[in-house]
Amino acid sequence: MKDLIATAARILHHARHPIFLSGAGISAESGIPTFRGSEGLWKNYRAEELATPEAFARDPHLVWQWYNWRKERIAQCKPNPAHYAAAELKKLLPELLCVTQNVDGFHALAGLSEVLEMHGNIYRTRCLSCKTVTENRTEITPTTPCPACGKVPLRPDVVWFGEILPRQVMDVIYARLQIADAILVVGTSGTVYPAAGFAVEVRRRRGTVIEINTDAAHRPYADDIYLHGKAGEILPAIVDELRRLS
Ligand code: APR
Repeated sequence: MKDLIATAARILHHARHPIFLSGAGISAESGIPTFRGSEGLWKNYRAEELATPEAFARDPHLVWQWYNWRKERIAQCKPNPAHYAAAELKKLLPELLCVTQNVDGFHALAGLSEVLEMHGNIYRTRCLSCKTVTENRTEITPTTPCPACGKVPLRPDVVWFGEILPRQVMDVIYARLQIADAILVVGTSGTVYPAAGFAVEVRRRRGTVIEINTDAAHRPYADDIYLHGKAGEILPAIVDELRRLS
């Protein structure tokens, strides 16, 4: 593992247009359930009843109950060493484009302010009438008025299944994918597109794919470097190696 970590650090150090992509696995050590793990959210809840525009139209109470529960759950947790290492990675690799599928806001909380939240953020709401997006950490119901226009309902500012992703964010990511020479993929099952296609695209352009994951059985990408283990242990080790190279 030591050699693999040294190789990964060397490749990132020399990369000119690297990408960092994280998924729910990077927050697992903070105590936030992943989606498809053994205690994953989708094992206990039905995504089609909770994370689609149709579900919200059908039963906004149920959907807000679930998001309020998740907000409460996340609020009891803290970023872990992997989140802090990602912030250090950006300092050591200023060219690194940081992207997350997570809606927990832990990357920013750990000091990585320049992170593209491609699936939105659970602590923001969006008004269905005036589209105003607002930071909101409190409990929300379908009758909570929009702070801008006073209308209801508000919805979570996250991307639900079947919805398109924020255009501005995706434009930046697709522009980088054209020139990316390396991607570091951390804690994602590689099952949800378009994120699941990023590493494939980098590989197709002869870039290097480095992956950190605890699930050796499920390797969604033809990785060049597969670092089997916890992000909270491996990412800080990569940062230490990069420091030695800088
Ligand atoms: N360190 C590294 N990897 C881990 C760790 C850990 N400590 N714990 C779990 N993992 C890995 C699991 O092996 C799995 O491959 O993280 C991955 C989590 O996968 P998912 O639960 O499928 O989460 P993710 O890939 O982020 O889901 C993608 O699906 O439900 C939607 O919008 C939601 O953004 C989410 C998207």
